[in-house]
Amino acid sequence: MDLSFIQKPEIQQLLDRAAGVQESGGNPRLKAIFRDLTQSVMELIVKHDISESEFWGAMQYLAESSAEIGLIVPGTGIEHFLDLYMDAKDAEAGLTGGTPRTIEGPLYVAGAPLVEGDVNLSVDADEGTQTLYMSGIVTGPDGEAVEDAIVHVWHANSQGWYSHFDPTGEQTPFNNRRRIRLGKDGRYAFHSRQPSGYSVPPGGATDRLMQALGRHGNRPAHVHFFIEAPGYRTLTTQINFGDDPFAADDFAFGTREGLLPVPSRQGDSAYIAFDFQLQRAVTAGDEGFSSRARAEVAAERQVEAA
Ligand SMILES: [Fe+2]
Repeated sequence: MDLSFIQKPEIQQLLDRAAGVQESGGNPRLKAIFRDLTQSVMELIVKHDISESEFWGAMQYLAESSAEIGLIVPGTGIEHFLDLYMDAKDAEAGLTGGTPRTIEGPLYVAGAPLVEGDVNLSVDADEGTQTLYMSGIVTGPDGEAVEDAIVHVWHANSQGWYSHFDPTGEQTPFNNRRRIRLGKDGRYAFHSRQPSGYSVPPGGATDRLMQALGRHGNRPAHVHFFIEAPGYRTLTTQINFGDDPFAADDFAFGTREGLLPVPSRQGDSAYIAFDFQLQRAVTAGDEGFSSRARAEVAAERQVEAA
């Protein structure tokens, strides 16, 4: 059997009816996407001669994996693909330059304390790891200091766990999470207990998929950022530690050229100097965030002394 089977009138009519093509109600864009998606699934079944048992095995996997969808999407390369696609569309529109975007990942929590100055991100002691000192300036396309930016920063602890998502329950809420309000000079500085890389939950849906693909589920140590400022395009990015064993082999494809600083390590301290460059906002929407669903917790203290 070859793919011409999909073009049979009986199959094409089935696709039209399944996608509600002839129905007056519904969303036309969704109908078109849904029809193509359904046809792609049918083509996969024919191309790989997928059996009924294999198909329902895949459905079972999907049903069981919803809690890890935020890991499966980056692990399968789709989240990085979205970045590459947005980059390519930007290039077509003449929007180039600035710090590269990279994947957000699933572990941002809205509502982190809003702070100013030389900020300490780590509330918990987290012994046995270095103190990370990171600082630099946020500029615009012409090198101008970006005024009144807010830097959202979040990272794991030395065990690779994020506050709010830590199964040990040992982390203080918003540990290693802050929103840093910058001034007129665009400069930021923070210190924290240096994060470690992490792996996907052992035995979970992502881990099972990675094993079936002969891959691992490890990420290098990294620090996530959103940077927003009036008049500039919100940047979603992260830096990955260039000296981490997984720096060049990130299961989530989050590492990118230009986002791999190697910390300067001296005794108990690690230093990263890193400047961010934002693009100017072209449309009002550029200053906002994608509408991706994110965890949200009300901060006890919206502003606190650094
Ligand atoms: Fe992360």
